[in-house]
Amino acid sequence: MLVLSCASVAYPVQWLRVSMATQVRSRTQVSFHRHDNPFVPEVVKALDSLDAEFRAVDYLVACNTSRVLKAFQNARVGSHHFGGSTGYGHDEVGGREALDQAFAEIVGAESAIVRSQFFSGTHAITCALFAFLRPGDELLAVAGAPYDTLEEVIGKRESHGAGSLKDFGVEYREVPLAEDGGLDWDALTSALKPHTKCALIQRSCGYSWRRSLSVNEIGRAIEMIKMYNPNCLVMVDNCYGEFVEKIEPPMVGADLIAGSLIKNPGGTIAPCGGYVAGRKKWVEAAAARLSAPGLGMDCGSTPGDIMRTYFQGLFLAPQMVGEAIKGTFLIAEVMASRGYKVQPLPRVTRHDTVQAVQLGSCERLLAFCEAVQRSSPVGSFTKPVAGSTPGYASEVIFADGTFIDGSTSELSCDGPLREPFAVFCQGGSHWTQWGLVLGEVLKHI
Ligand SMILES: Cc1ncc(COP(=O)(O)O)c(C=O)c1O
Repeated sequence: MLVLSCASVAYPVQWLRVSMATQVRSRTQVSFHRHDNPFVPEVVKALDSLDAEFRAVDYLVACNTSRVLKAFQNARVGSHHFGGSTGYGHDEVGGREALDQAFAEIVGAESAIVRSQFFSGTHAITCALFAFLRPGDELLAVAGAPYDTLEEVIGKRESHGAGSLKDFGVEYREVPLAEDGGLDWDALTSALKPHTKCALIQRSCGYSWRRSLSVNEIGRAIEMIKMYNPNCLVMVDNCYGEFVEKIEPPMVGADLIAGSLIKNPGGTIAPCGGYVAGRKKWVEAAAARLSAPGLGMDCGSTPGDIMRTYFQGLFLAPQMVGEAIKGTFLIAEVMASRGYKVQPLPRVTRHDTVQAVQLGSCERLLAFCEAVQRSSPVGSFTKPVAGSTPGYASEVIFADGTFIDGSTSELSCDGPLREPFAVFCQGGSHWTQWGLVLGEVLKHI
């Protein structure tokens, strides 16, 4: 009578030394009684092939947790920081500062602003872009089209005078990705003009069928950008990338990064918010955009219960991201074995927590999302329907039976109702959740 696949159990210290003998021994321990196996055979088979990938993820979690711990210790995080504040937030006892300091150290930045007042990732990215750009400047998206919700921010899609960058006289161009889905290096260098003030690099795939960028690729792009135009600032949309590697974009020269706390760095428990991190001058400019020029970073209240979740969520984030990455390996393995195109490919090193699967028809996309919703802990009795969502041009379907509304660090999936009808899966506080959900999905597509 044995328990789950070896990939699930806590590894003894010797896994760090990964000997073949250990691998063989652990594999031989994998046996289930068919009647009490929680997983369908496709999932069991996939798990048996993912030992090495799961071990590598645990090693990544250990490295990133170590960095987080050091930053918490350097910021002298204490329980008094969880008290929060009210009103203007002037009478804060250092929690805001300690959180910003720890976050900045973790991502290798000079400064950071981590706040509940950011509505979302889109809002944080917008504050960062408006920090850099002034009338007459140009924004250049160097990794193809940016995420859907940025279209109205940029003015690529009509914003009806709501104050897009275009409304303020900021020009925009984009460099399409190369055929292999990576950055087009030649096109990038020739696209940079003297008035290109900001290069936008999106680390994760968004709703595009493209591969996500590694931090090293981002670093190479930054080096080139600065070589061809030293005045061009680089902003990285870091959504879904945090803690997926051992380094973050500020460590390779990004001037600013921005993201959401209901994605990776909130560790599944932060209830709202976002962050901007990078060079001090520009973080302050983004803070002025979030609040008002002159108010700076030292105001804005956040209730105590939320402050505690920010610290605790950030501490948990490397582990939660690790579980989400294991989920992507499992989804890719199982769905590819059923003949679906997957991005990234099975067992390829991950650069974000998103696993895309091309389902090829609207019906299958809806059926996939319905199965995920039915298997969720919250709202399992509801049926997700596609509809219009603020910021998105296409109708989108979301399966998010999550404790935090719209959280994509919890197990969730979504997709725009357009060709090639791909579903984008992410999150999960333990990989076994995806193991169970896939059983339900496979019954219906
Ligand atoms: C790459 C990327 N950037 C930005 C966003 C926008 O984040 P939010 O939904 O928090 O506004 C998303 C959302 O999924 C995304 O995938």
